[in-house]
Amino acid sequence: MSVGKMFMCKLMRLPLIALTSCPAEFWGDVAKDFFWKTKHTGQFLDYNFDVTKGEIYIKCMEGASTNICYNLLDRNRVCQFANVLKAQGVKKGDRVSIYMPMVVELVVAMLACVRIGAVHSIVFAGFSAESLCERIVDSQCCLLITADGFYRGDKLINLKLLADEALQKCRDKGFPVGVCVCVCVCVCARVCVQVPWNPEVDLCWDALLRGVSDECEPEWCDSEDPLFILYTSGSTGKPKGVLHTVSGYMLYTATTFKVVFDHQPDDVYWCTADIGWITGHSYITYGPLANGATSVLFEGLPTHPDVSRMWEIVDKYNVTKFYTAPTAIRLLMKFGNEPVQRYKRSSLKVLGTVGEPINPEAWQWYYNVVGEKRCPIVDTFWQTETGGHVLTPLPAATPMKPGSATLPFFGVVPAILNESGEELEGPSEGYLVFKQPWPGVMRTIYGSHERFESTYFKKFPGYYVTGDGCRRDKDGYFWVTGRIDDMLNVSGHLLSTAEVESALVEHEAVAEAAVVGRPHPVKGESLYCFVTLNDGVMYNSELEVELKKQVREKIGAIATPDYIQNAPGLPKTRSGKIMRRLLRKIACDERELGDISTLADSTVVEQLFQNRCCTAV
Ligand SMILES: *[C@@H]1O[C@H](CO)[C@@H](O)[C@H](O)[C@H]1NC(C)=O
Ligand SMILES: *[C@@H]1O[C@H](CO)[C@@H](O)[C@H](O)[C@H]1NC(C)=O
Ligand SMILES: *[C@@H]1O[C@H](CO)[C@@H](O)[C@H](O)[C@H]1NC(C)=O
Repeated sequence: MSVGKMFMCKLMRLPLIALTSCPAEFWGDVAKDFFWKTKHTGQFLDYNFDVTKGEIYIKCMEGASTNICYNLLDRNRVCQFANVLKAQGVKKGDRVSIYMPMVVELVVAMLACVRIGAVHSIVFAGFSAESLCERIVDSQCCLLITADGFYRGDKLINLKLLADEALQKCRDKGFPVGVCVCVCVCVCARVCVQVPWNPEVDLCWDALLRGVSDECEPEWCDSEDPLFILYTSGSTGKPKGVLHTVSGYMLYTATTFKVVFDHQPDDVYWCTADIGWITGHSYITYGPLANGATSVLFEGLPTHPDVSRMWEIVDKYNVTKFYTAPTAIRLLMKFGNEPVQRYKRSSLKVLGTVGEPINPEAWQWYYNVVGEKRCPIVDTFWQTETGGHVLTPLPAATPMKPGSATLPFFGVVPAILNESGEELEGPSEGYLVFKQPWPGVMRTIYGSHERFESTYFKKFPGYYVTGDGCRRDKDGYFWVTGRIDDMLNVSGHLLSTAEVESALVEHEAVAEAAVVGRPHPVKGESLYCFVTLNDGVMYNSELEVELKKQVREKIGAIATPDYIQNAPGLPKTRSGKIMRRLLRKIACDERELGDISTLADSTVVEQLFQNRCCTAV
């Protein structure tokens, strides 16, 4: 990565916010702009970040009560649908699963939950029936909201069928889900899918709304009441239900949105993410709506019907602030400058990236070609767990370096630790951790506070551990280098290798599986899978197809293996641990193996090199 050159855009408008040394004072001022039914009684931010001193907890504005929906907007349809949910027996604190494409009804459904104090758990519509079922059961949802179908490019996805399949799986596991409310007409009119209908459990969105009152008194929620659960891959295979709570999350997403995008009343903001991911929660729904921002809600692909799609929309709506992922930038970059330059893009003022560190080459293209050197780039680092941006430049205020998320947001205190947990000073590289909470940080893993503590706080007592590696340069800039544990980032989405492996091993032919990332020019990483078959089973292309299908069904299309290699043996340490480091070398055909003294049987490695797959399956 080139560290050298600093980029500084002409100062546009500096965010009107004073940096204060005391986070509680700073956030207390922010809170004054919101509506509180009752005032907080305890400390503004009360916490324990040190596992050695007792249970980990973070509380923001305890004793205060509010309602996010009320703070965001008071739109009729939202109230109507909130009344529908109530009529279905959904109460404050109940979990509601939402499995929908990027349609307005998705936002309505999430805010209707919020209005009545129910906790939404949105499952990305690209996930399989199995994944949906697992998430419904884990969060004990009482209701599922879905849609009939949608198009991904030219391909029709019959979402209702997948939802039915998921509910059947839940029933098979003995888990009852009350009803399946299906958003029907608006999507259906366009898609024309014939959905199977079971009158005992299925309800039609439009029919439900008929004649329903458009008034719904918001449910006033305590600051630390749960707001939503969002699942993220866990390194042990089972997804983690990250839980965010009402007040802190509201203040944090509203403020980061306002400052990081330098939000102004005449802006037209467009974030291309899906609401199924945290980016869509924080920076399509909550942050922008809390600021009354005008937003573009996009359903579709950046390359469909052609690769100018993004820029066509930018011109059509005069988009001023544009937020997308490095994987989309790399994808579009492949088609050269012409598709971009076909449109004016003169309305653009700030460009943002999210999802993974952006490689400097893509940064340069985004800056020079898309933004024509006039638009600052906000390269935002954050996670599902952090709720909002934690490392980020402020547009036109922070000098940029391509590939660096630059500096912490107000009140965020990062540190870099070495392997033994000591804080490193100055230029250094190690584990990225945070020393104190900010209002929007996650509070627990739903159903397992113990897993929350062991995942994020046990490794280095006193710190929140991000799981990412990081380098700090001589100017104090942070460069996030990637996951330290065994995660893959495919197109900016974190996948756990363990989850893919367990999907492979569930196939009757497979005895053992190990999955590693292999660099991919567009997706960032591709999935390279090694499978050891059961005795007597023959490896062939049919099996390969079955395995791919198996993973796709278990986890979703995003996790489809790119390479599958038959591995009669896997490199293991003497204690039986798979040496993934060596598998990564094999996947990339790198013969420099480094220290292999712990390897139990070195002939295995030679054999795997000889049978590498060179082309994707
Ligand atoms: C976008 O800006 C152009 C030029 O300033 C203007 O003519 C057009 O009406 C605007 N479009 C919208 C949708 O506001
Ligand atoms: C980092 O770790 C090593 C031991 O692993 C220790 O000796 C060293 O002093 C640590 N601290 C710093 C600040 O480098
Ligand atoms: C994600 O992938 C990029 C390459 O596309 C890599 O540089 C980076 O280390 C990864 N980031 C994370 C957070 O895993």
